[in-house]
Amino acid sequence: MASGGGSLADRLREIRDEGLAAIEAAGDAKELEAARVRWLGRSGALSEAMSGMRDLAAADRPVTGKLANEVKQALERAYEARERVLAAAGSDGRSPRDLTLPGRRAWPGGSHPVTRVIDEICEIFGELGFTRAAGPEIETDWHNFTALGIPLDHPAADEHDTFWLDDRVVLRTHTSPVQARVMQSSEPPIRVVAPGLAYRRDPFDASHAPAFEQIEGLAVDEGIDFVEFRAAIDFFVRRFFGPGTRTRFRASYFPFTEPSAEVDVTCFLCGGSGCSACKRTGWIEIMGSGMVDPVVFEECGLDPERYTGYAFGMGPARIAMLRYRIPDIRLLYEGDVGFLEQLSG
Ligand code: PHE
Repeated sequence: MASGGGSLADRLREIRDEGLAAIEAAGDAKELEAARVRWLGRSGALSEAMSGMRDLAAADRPVTGKLANEVKQALERAYEARERVLAAAGSDGRSPRDLTLPGRRAWPGGSHPVTRVIDEICEIFGELGFTRAAGPEIETDWHNFTALGIPLDHPAADEHDTFWLDDRVVLRTHTSPVQARVMQSSEPPIRVVAPGLAYRRDPFDASHAPAFEQIEGLAVDEGIDFVEFRAAIDFFVRRFFGPGTRTRFRASYFPFTEPSAEVDVTCFLCGGSGCSACKRTGWIEIMGSGMVDPVVFEECGLDPERYTGYAFGMGPARIAMLRYRIPDIRLLYEGDVGFLEQLSG
């Protein structure tokens, strides 16, 4: 077969165009390898065409040889480029990974807002000598009611809308049974704070949860009077809500304290001028409290002639809602990371 310089040059240009098209169209490594063998391989189209150089007139050889080299380099570069694209794309060859996308940030976690409030409260009482105590969430009716001066037929037992597990055992309706357990198991002086869950048969709505945190406080010693009680609560309030916060004791009733008081603080959101959080009153109720009723000492085996004390109970979820302006208590229990991330320290 005789081929002049012109037709060999044409053939080389053809090989370049078709070879490039084939390489660029290769959809995976296998197709790319096939294109390489066919166009660049030892017995591929380019080698075959080059063997025609021998038949060229000597004068045509340098120009055609140069063209042949250019074609070879163009095909090799295209092959390498395609190989890189396919490697980045993964095995399917269709969706190249976008290596410029920012990475996904991992959230290392943090304390739940209610946990933070609990820890802060416990730390402040810790400065007054209170240590942490705990009791079981599954309680006897004696610890939950009787020891605290609540007869089982008393409306207070009803008001607590109790989850009964059997006829003697309940899910505790408050953390106050920890008072009874601590008084039974330790000698005064007693100063404990006991955070934990309590359970009531309440609807799960914006302001109620059937399981909710409480923090119980109990101080028992010889000579504890109402003044010490007020001073301790005042100290806590100023440390927790800010030094300008004032405290108000409102007479109330609990079967296990006498006298009993609801404790209000000047609204820490509006400073007392009246806002939606304090329902325009300037005051926010933060706890139930009172001097330990002698009946409780008797039930728990402590001498009511010798000892006095005070107790209080508060709801850290409610305090967290006010502090972080959370409108719905359910947000605190849904475990939505997008929500929690904004509030955890
Ligand atoms: N246990 C009471 C409640 O759940 C709160 C409280 C605790 C009141 C201690 C007085 C003393 O409402």
